[in-house]
Amino acid sequence: MSSFSRESTAEEVVRGLDLSGQVIMITGTTSGLGEESARVLAARGAQVAMLARDPQKNREAADRIRSSVPDADLSMHQVDLSNLASVARFASEAADEFSRIDVLMNNAGVMCCPFDRTADGFEMQFGTNHLGHFAHTARLLPLLLQADKPRVVTLSSGGHRISDVDLDDPNFEHTPYDPWLAYGRSKSANVHFAAELARRFGDQMLSVSVHPGAIPTKLGRHMTKEMLEGMRARAKASSSSGQGLQMKSLESGAATQVWAATSPEIAENNGTYLADCNVAEPGTGEIGYAPHIYNPPTEAALWELSERFVDLSF
Ligand SMILES: NC(=O)c1ccc[n+]([C@@H]2O[C@H](COP(=O)([O-])OP(=O)(O)OC[C@H]3O[C@@H](n4cnc5c(N)ncnc54)[C@H](OP(=O)(O)O)[C@@H]3O)[C@@H](O)[C@H]2O)c1
Repeated sequence: MSSFSRESTAEEVVRGLDLSGQVIMITGTTSGLGEESARVLAARGAQVAMLARDPQKNREAADRIRSSVPDADLSMHQVDLSNLASVARFASEAADEFSRIDVLMNNAGVMCCPFDRTADGFEMQFGTNHLGHFAHTARLLPLLLQADKPRVVTLSSGGHRISDVDLDDPNFEHTPYDPWLAYGRSKSANVHFAAELARRFGDQMLSVSVHPGAIPTKLGRHMTKEMLEGMRARAKASSSSGQGLQMKSLESGAATQVWAATSPEIAENNGTYLADCNVAEPGTGEIGYAPHIYNPPTEAALWELSERFVDLSF
């Protein structure tokens, strides 16, 4: 058990740490958890690379960070995770601009969007949340391996409990599309990816997945009233206290991923799924993980499928 908890803030998690010299790359920094993580890590001296698909929104986020951390060492880069050509273009720029990456935070995400396909034809949530980050990590592997004990922190969600991945129909070609089902599958894919990355590269790097909690951010932008009610009902049914969804502040919401990026305790817990600044336990409540998690055959099969889809092997 770490000394941090559900209430801990990201700032508390890194208090006293000197992160100068650390190169930390975060996807999805235009708002929410990515922006808050970038702010807190930059305040401890890290060199933070902010990655977003919209350069204007990314500049505005950097300005907000600089207003609270005037000497923040920030750089801004464009990558659209729903477009594999954009992922490849960014990785080739990164090879020129960076000599190593100490922490790669795969944070960007889309939730419950109407049915759509990525530029490469994959279902949007699976394609962005999982395949985009899979390709992104694969292409940045040489830079990660230049660092001493690099880390990959991949944002999942308690929403992984909605569904495991569907390896037979990952892109909803036969299954009727359901926005929550697609989100759940993509977030299970995030957990499987983190575990398999640790299995394949565990002697060289640390890889974990994170449930940040329920935080009011822009993630809910596609949610209708009915979807929100469905989420509340699911949370109530699964919470032992019957209290339902317990929201966190943005400051506490970013704590687990920042803890994952910096804590020495992660070394003994490579490949795990984290929540509330601790390794999560199995369970039905918000921070427990579902029985389909930690399944090596599924993790390996998803990895192979993903390699085929993005046409990269790693
Ligand atoms: N908030 C929660 O309660 C909660 C709970 C569990 C898990 N999470 C996970 O936490 C992560 C961060 O979410 P958040 O709550 O901070 O949401 P958010 O405020 O909506 O931030 C999501 C970020 O992802 C970016 N993004 C979306 N699609 C992208 C794409 N195709 N390419 C590049 N960037 C893209 C967004 O950029 P734009 O501004 O361009 O859209 C934004 O910067 C997500 O992975 C989410 O699944 C959040």
